[in-house]
Amino acid sequence: MPTVTPFSLLGCRALITGASSGLGAEFARQLAPKASALWLVARRVELLQGLREELQATHPSLMIEVLVCDLCDPRARRELVEGLRQRACSINVLINNAGMGDYGSVATAQWSKLEAMMQLNMLAVVELSHGLMPLLEAHAPARILQVGSLAGSMPLPEFALYAASKGFVQQFSEALAIECCARGVGVTCLCPGPTATEFSRQAKREQGADTDRRGHGLLRQPPARVVALALEGMRRADPCVHPGLAVWLLSRVCRLLPVSLLRAVLRWRYQSH
Ligand SMILES: NC(=O)c1ccc[n+]([C@@H]2O[C@H](COP(=O)([O-])OP(=O)(O)OC[C@H]3O[C@@H](n4cnc5c(N)ncnc54)[C@H](OP(=O)(O)O)[C@@H]3O)[C@@H](O)[C@H]2O)c1
Repeated sequence: MPTVTPFSLLGCRALITGASSGLGAEFARQLAPKASALWLVARRVELLQGLREELQATHPSLMIEVLVCDLCDPRARRELVEGLRQRACSINVLINNAGMGDYGSVATAQWSKLEAMMQLNMLAVVELSHGLMPLLEAHAPARILQVGSLAGSMPLPEFALYAASKGFVQQFSEALAIECCARGVGVTCLCPGPTATEFSRQAKREQGADTDRRGHGLLRQPPARVVALALEGMRRADPCVHPGLAVWLLSRVCRLLPVSLLRAVLRWRYQSH
């Protein structure tokens, strides 16, 4: 079995999606002292520019480019990828971090939000991984970090499409890691538990109920710790990173439980909410 080429974050050149807030902004902050170039992608230009100014003030030699892109829009995505390829950008780290959720049942969801979630959480991840692979290979050793979720380890009623989309990311990432290993590109899937970011505010529907937070206290990790563990796992090309012992344990339990028992537990939890 070939092992992936060693990699150093020093001097790396990273494209981060969803860099305007939460984990994405934290990835930029933790990479800034080590990286030589960052491409920051999201929709909210003022937040991206603010982050660029903040990082540039302490790291004046760091090249930072702000790329405003709605990753739910297939045309905007294509233009982003083609633009980076035409300019032969020297990216050697791709962090597919942008993502969204929707709290509530499928039956009561707005189709436009479900569709946007599939575009962002799955299609954008695949399109950027595929479209930027030639750049990553050209600048190998290189790394891809896919931001999945602990939710990808189990079916989750009232969070069904989100959990399924993150299960997709996990499966895609594991297979891609094996495909890319011999080509000098390490692939890691980060599977965090609940983390304090803007995620919940965006996932909650207007006048909708909050998600079921029983047990979240055991799983929660600060964003800075999640990102530090993710970057270390990515550097080592670990196929999967579960930040925190409780997150790791729960993901293992979900995989090992007989499916009939898992269904019974999920049904009980759903009905007792
Ligand atoms: N927080 C958690 O509890 C948790 C747990 C497990 C996994 N995750 C995953 O972690 C990742 C980061 O989320 P977060 O927790 O940091 O949440 P967040 O603070 O809401 O950040 C989401 C990021 O995605 C960007 N984004 C959303 N829609 C976009 C679009 N259409 N086009 C381009 N960018 C878009 C947002 O930027 P703009 O709005 O400026 O576009 C923002 O920068 C997601 O993949 C999420 O699923 C989060």
